[in-house]
Amino acid sequence: MQNGFPPPPGAKELNVGVIGCGVMGRGIVQIAALAGATVYMADSREGAAQAAREELLATFGKLVEKGKLDAAAADAAGGRMIACTGLDALRPCHVVVEAIVEDLAAKKSLFATLEGIVDAEAILASNTSSLSVTAIAAGLQHPERVAGFHFFNPVPLMKIVEVIGGFMTRPDVTDTLLALGRQWGHTAVLAKDTPGFIVNHAGRGYGTEGLRLLNEGICSVPALDAILRDTAGFRLGPCELLDLTGLDVSHPVMESIYRQYYEEPRFRPQVLTRQMLAAGALGRKVGHGFYRYGADGKKEAIAEPVQASQRPESVWLSQERPELAERISVLVAAAGVQVESGARPSDRALCIVTPLGEDATTCCVRENLDATRTVAVESLLDLTRRRVVMTNPATGAETLAMACGLFGATGIPVSVIRDSAGLVTQRVVAHIVNIACEIAQQQIADPQDIDRAVVLGLGYPIGPLAWGDQVGAATVLAILKNLEHQTGDTRYRPSPWLQRRAMLGLSLHHKEI
Ligand code: NAI
Repeated sequence: MQNGFPPPPGAKELNVGVIGCGVMGRGIVQIAALAGATVYMADSREGAAQAAREELLATFGKLVEKGKLDAAAADAAGGRMIACTGLDALRPCHVVVEAIVEDLAAKKSLFATLEGIVDAEAILASNTSSLSVTAIAAGLQHPERVAGFHFFNPVPLMKIVEVIGGFMTRPDVTDTLLALGRQWGHTAVLAKDTPGFIVNHAGRGYGTEGLRLLNEGICSVPALDAILRDTAGFRLGPCELLDLTGLDVSHPVMESIYRQYYEEPRFRPQVLTRQMLAAGALGRKVGHGFYRYGADGKKEAIAEPVQASQRPESVWLSQERPELAERISVLVAAAGVQVESGARPSDRALCIVTPLGEDATTCCVRENLDATRTVAVESLLDLTRRRVVMTNPATGAETLAMACGLFGATGIPVSVIRDSAGLVTQRVVAHIVNIACEIAQQQIADPQDIDRAVVLGLGYPIGPLAWGDQVGAATVLAILKNLEHQTGDTRYRPSPWLQRRAMLGLSLHHKEI
C-alpha cells in the first residue's frame, strides 16, 4: 500500500472494521479477531454489535470446551473485539468490511459516510454476493480503494474468500485483501467484477442442467439425484441441493445471473422452480420441496424402484467408441454374460450403445440396430456405485429387463432413464466443465483458482477444469458438440477455451503466454 498504509496483514496494529453483525459479519469478526486483528464491530440496529460480541465470546467458550481453541487465544481474541455504538469509532480502521443488507443504495451510502471517517488510504471492502463492486464504488471520492471480499456461510468453516477487483480498484488493494484472507486462514482467490464472481457463476451449470433433464421428462427427481451422487460424486443431487438452499434464495439467483449475463442460454432457468416457488414448495425449511421432510428435518425415504430383471443370452456392444465399449464389456463379463464378437448382433443379442452427447435413438439408427432390442448405457465416470441404462422410444420391456438383469447382476443399483442426448452424468458434467472454461476464457479468474474456489465453495468432488482433464478435453468437446447438434440449443456451444485445448491436446489449466 502507499505510505505503508494499511500495515501488512498480520501486523499487530491491524485494525479491521466489520459493519453489519448478522450471520456473515459475525463470522468475519471471528476469523479476523482469532487471526490477531483488532476488530471494530458496528451495526445500525441498536445493541446488535454488543449482542454479536457476546455471542462470539460464547462460541469461543464452546470451542475451548471442545478443545478446538486454546483458552489464552480465545481470551486474547475476545479482548480484540470492540463493539461500537457509531461509525465514528471506526476511525482507526485500516480495512473496513461491510456485511450489511444486500442493497446497492445502502452499501453506497455507508461507504460514502465512511469516506468522511476513515483514513483516505483505508480499504473499503464489501461482502456482497450479487451486487457489482464497481457500482458500489462509483461516485465515491476514492473508488480505487473499494473491492469485494466475498466470504461464504458459515465463514469460519467455508475456507474460501473471493477478492473482487472492480473496474476502478487499484491492484495493491486486491493484493492486500488476498494476503489478509490467507492470513485469516482462508484460500483467497482473485476474481473480476462479473455476475456471480467465480463460485456462484461456476455453480450455474449443476442446478439448471438437472432441472432441464427433469423438464425433458428423462427421469424422476430421486433418480436424477441418485445418478449424480453415485456416478459423478456430488454430495447432494441437484434437487436435494435446491431443497437445502431453499427456492426463495436459489430461484431468484438463477433468474438474476441469467439476466445479468443478457440471457446467456448456458444459465437459462426452468419454469419448474418458478412454479414451486409460487406454490411455496421452498424445500427443507418449509417441510416440502422436491422431497418431503419430517419434523426432524430428515428427508422422506424413497425406495429404489424395482425393475423387472432377466438374463440376456448374449450382448452385442457397439464398437463405435472402443475405449467405452471396453469399460462396458468388463461389466458384462463380471455378470457372466458373453459378449458377441461379430460385426452385427445375433438375433437374440441385447444390443448396447455407448453414446457421447447423443441419444440412444441416434446411435441405434446410425448403426442400423433393431431399436426394440437396443439400450444405451452411461460409460463415463464412476461405474462402481450405480449403472445407468437409457431406453429409446422403441425399446421393448423384455430388452429393458435384460439390461437391468445384466447391469444389476453384481448387486449394484441400476437407474433407468428415457432417451436423452448425453444421458445424465456426462451431460451435466460437460456443461459444468464448459462453464468453467468460459470463466477462464473471459479471464474472470486464474484456472487454478477456478478449481480451488469451486471445490471449497461448492463442495464438488474435483475442480471443473481438472474434471475436464480427467474425462478428457476431447471427450467433453465431443459431448458438447453432439448435444448442441442434437438439441439445436446454443446452451451447449463449446467454449473456445475448451475447443482449442482439446484440439491441441493441452490441459484445461493451460494458459496462453
Ligand atoms: P443478516 O441479515 O444476517 O445481517 C445483516 C446485518 O446488517 C444486520 O445485523 C443488520 O442490522 C445490519 N445492517 C443492515 N443495514 C445496515 C446499515 N445500513 N448499516 C449498518 N448495519 C446494517 O445478513 P447476512 O446474511 O449476514 O448478509 C450480509 C451481507 O453478506 C449481504 O450483503 C449478503 O448478500 C452477503 N452474503 C451473505 C451470505 C449468506 O449466506 N448469508 C453469503 C455471502 C454473502
